[in-house]
Amino acid sequence: MALFSKKEAERSAERAVPRHIAIILDGNGRWAKKRGLPRTAGHAVGAETMRKITRYCRDIGVEYLSLYVFSTENWNRPPEEVAELMRLLEKYLYEAIDDMAKENLRIVIFGDKSRLSPKIRSLIERTDEITSHIEGFQVNLCLNYGGRDEIVRAARRYAQDVAEGRANDIDEAGFSQYLYSAGLPDPELLIRPGGEMRTSNFLMWQLAYSEMYFVDTLWPDFTPHDIDKAIDEYLRRDRRFGKVKE
Ligand code: IPE
Ligand code: IPE
Ligand code: MG
Repeated sequence: MALFSKKEAERSAERAVPRHIAIILDGNGRWAKKRGLPRTAGHAVGAETMRKITRYCRDIGVEYLSLYVFSTENWNRPPEEVAELMRLLEKYLYEAIDDMAKENLRIVIFGDKSRLSPKIRSLIERTDEITSHIEGFQVNLCLNYGGRDEIVRAARRYAQDVAEGRANDIDEAGFSQYLYSAGLPDPELLIRPGGEMRTSNFLMWQLAYSEMYFVDTLWPDFTPHDIDKAIDEYLRRDRRFGKVKE
């Protein structure tokens, strides 16, 4: 069920919204700490926020939503926290399997699956299978994802294809096709809640010309209204792409 009225959805749909929004889900731990709760309580609320914001983005006409949920660096957290994050991801995927068809939701994993548990990998196989039958809104779930890792993997495969005659030359357009995001438009807008002003190894290639929106609100407190504010700010930006203004 959508979080906001149908009228609001229609109003939003009339606006120009970015085709692709990327979000770094940050601030769960601090949200919990402020309330005297364990960090993991923040992750549980953050997972609910992720569901709500996903539906909202779909309803206002965004086509692709890239969500940074677990980085290649996040393995360096205490094992109990990593285990809880993995448990929540498992729950998310498990529930998504039931909902994807009726919610018209495609889920694509960006990241190295080999380090994930067999249980999570088998849930991903099921979401992949369902996604292949759905056309529509797409969530790129960035899970064990690192921007540098993605680029190194792409370079390795591309170089091998050139060496074995399957590709001619190495160029930007060709390179993009070896990334998890092959065929997708780059995000026009990156949103990072939680107050930090950095990209923390997220979508290093794809964010080259994205508008960046940083906000102090912690992710568990993030609402559809915050998405609207970010889009309004994005619409006010002057995107020049290196050219001079007419
Ligand atoms: C984001 O919240 C969740 C993940 C990185 C997995 P954090 O856990 O980073 O929360 P803070 O930044 O410590 O508050
Ligand atoms: C970025 O948040 C990674 C995810 C949200 C998945 P972090 O909390 O891990 O990033 P840093 O440590 O503040 O750079
Ligand atoms: Mg953080």
